[in-house]
Amino acid sequence: MIGVMPRIFVTRKLPGEALGRLADAGHEVDVWNGELPPPRDELLGRTTTAEGLLCLLTDRVDAELLDACPELRAVANMAVGTDNIDLAECAQRGIPVGNTPGVLTEATADLAFALILASARHLIAAAGAVRAGHWRTWEPAGWLGQDVHGATLGIIGLGKIGRAMVRRSEGFGMRLLHHDRTSGMSLDTVLADSDFVSIHCPLTEQTRGLIGERELRQMKPTATLVNTARGEIVDPRALATALREGWIAGAALDVTDPEPLAPDDPLLQAPNLIVLPHIGSASHATREAMADLAVDNLIAALAGRAMPNPVGES
Ligand code: DGY
Repeated sequence: MIGVMPRIFVTRKLPGEALGRLADAGHEVDVWNGELPPPRDELLGRTTTAEGLLCLLTDRVDAELLDACPELRAVANMAVGTDNIDLAECAQRGIPVGNTPGVLTEATADLAFALILASARHLIAAAGAVRAGHWRTWEPAGWLGQDVHGATLGIIGLGKIGRAMVRRSEGFGMRLLHHDRTSGMSLDTVLADSDFVSIHCPLTEQTRGLIGERELRQMKPTATLVNTARGEIVDPRALATALREGWIAGAALDVTDPEPLAPDDPLLQAPNLIVLPHIGSASHATREAMADLAVDNLIAALAGRAMPNPVGES
């Protein structure tokens, strides 16, 4: 039985008070309560009669789903990246899509910078050694890493998060290089001249596999690659080889291909590698702000207004 109030399917419990605002705005809200994303059949089934979908980067919104949901009028992604959504299919059907830019810029840049520092100074391995009882003495040549202050930072993708990295790098007296679609140096120059290369571009057909063997071989053997954008931008097999064979000194990833990475994934056997479970935006304030923006997008679109943060051409 279809309710009279616009029905919204939300694919996960969200932090903060945002979901309450959907009910306050008169929507019937169906929330997937699982700890993991809804399996595909649940996503299709629960969205069948929905007019609004609030989804996450773990939910694929494609032609199959849109075909199964004839009443859908709006899609709000609780993420700035929208590579999980087929924007062209949504546009073709006149379904607006919204995302959550801006509010996660600083948190993501904080984490990318934390990864630079952690990787350069072996923080994870050194802390693990202390817990494992391997701290015997102060060693003149123990745990030597790379200086971050004064080093050269190469930023790939100078959008909001890339620019937030620039601000952080200034405090560390770093020299800055950048490569972007429309500005900066060639990718080759940034890779060859940087001590730390940090990826901040969106995943698109142009950036998928952007960093593969050829690119990793251009980096300095003392350099570190940091990825907090999307895992598919870096070829994981080439990266594993690069770390094993010493083409680069280290890598620190908040995003992987695939996600989640299985504990027996060969990449995890590579040396000098830090992997985090995609937590770039995971601060209380940031995730609550993301949920709020996603709800704002949905409320506006279902009321026939423009989304505050629309994506694509629909
Ligand atoms: C995004 O919003 O795209 C981020 O990856 C979530 O942390």
